[in-house]
Amino acid sequence: MTIQKNISLRPFNSFGIDVLAKYFAAFSTAEELREIVAQLSNEKMLLLGGGSNILFTKDFDGAVVKNNLKGIELVNEDTAYYYVKAQAGENWHDFVKYCINHNYAGVENLSLIPGNTGASPIQNIGAYGVEIKDVFYELEALHLKENSLQKFSSSDCAFGYRESVFKKQYAHQFAILNITYRLRKQPLFHINYGAIEQELEKMGVQDLTIQAISNAVIRIRSSKLPDPQITGNAGSFFKNPVITHAQYEQLKESFPSIPGYPAQEGFIKTAAGWLIEQCGWKGYRKGDAGCYDKQALVLVNYGNAKGQEIFDLSASIIQTVMDRFGILLEREVNIF
Ligand code: EPU
Repeated sequence: MTIQKNISLRPFNSFGIDVLAKYFAAFSTAEELREIVAQLSNEKMLLLGGGSNILFTKDFDGAVVKNNLKGIELVNEDTAYYYVKAQAGENWHDFVKYCINHNYAGVENLSLIPGNTGASPIQNIGAYGVEIKDVFYELEALHLKENSLQKFSSSDCAFGYRESVFKKQYAHQFAILNITYRLRKQPLFHINYGAIEQELEKMGVQDLTIQAISNAVIRIRSSKLPDPQITGNAGSFFKNPVITHAQYEQLKESFPSIPGYPAQEGFIKTAAGWLIEQCGWKGYRKGDAGCYDKQALVLVNYGNAKGQEIFDLSASIIQTVMDRFGILLEREVNIF
């Protein structure tokens, strides 16, 4: 384990933003993490996984600590489930592929989401009708200040839409070390959301399998989301806003095609991508900062954009959506 100084974070964030970290260290065991925490105890600390949900707007004046814990193992099973523990530095999609290869069902709709397993509970990742909370069993985390191990059950995590305790009251207090997922022996197929059913038809799938669903999701995602290896991005930049039923009905009078999806009682979730596209941003580019031309909810770095330029673009988008629809967009990506 070595602690480096003034390291560029460009390779470590999917936006490809070139900023410096005052200190940088990576750990492959929990012991190494404890050493790093002890040595850098006076520094502001940022735990980094895949770096796929973060926008750096300036140099990081503290220690960036990268989680490289690896390993996936079956730790238990009962009549209905497999319990599979993944170390938090495992790439998420590699974990999904592992599950599909072993016929462990439940994460196939979450194929091709960038990032590491460690981030999956933090923001309760979700796509195509499935969220992590549906397969989560427990996790183990190190409390950075107290240097103590703690277990979190699903209810401890208080999962919400792209939310958990790790984004709220416990933000930046814990390093997630491993997560145990509870995966089905008998699959429960979720194909009603979005374009999955049509995609399966296009693919000529007769017998539904978790592999077929994964393939369909990969085809849909690849067709509208930019590959971060080629074009810097962090997936959806904003959350889909949840508004009151009354506000939705009022907006529908002026904008009859505004999308609406069920949310909690009395509320409707609408599509941020649609709102942003209506304001004319889709395909917009200024310098190397842009709004992706196939999915307006995704902001992109075409090469050498500064984090601040992407942030300023997001602020302009928030302003125009507010002016036109009276809806406040909330950023989903973590800003540093
Ligand atoms: N839409 C537009 N224009 C656009 C984009 C979207 O009009 O440019 C409208 C369309 O009406 C479309 C609707 O928005 O029917 C929903 O679009 P889409 O199915 O592409 O999904 P999304 O709501 O934009 C969410 C998640 C994605 C997830 C997809 C599929 C959030 C913030 N985003 O996007 O998650 O992959 O659903 O489940 O909830 C992420 O979090 O990084 C992410 C990519």
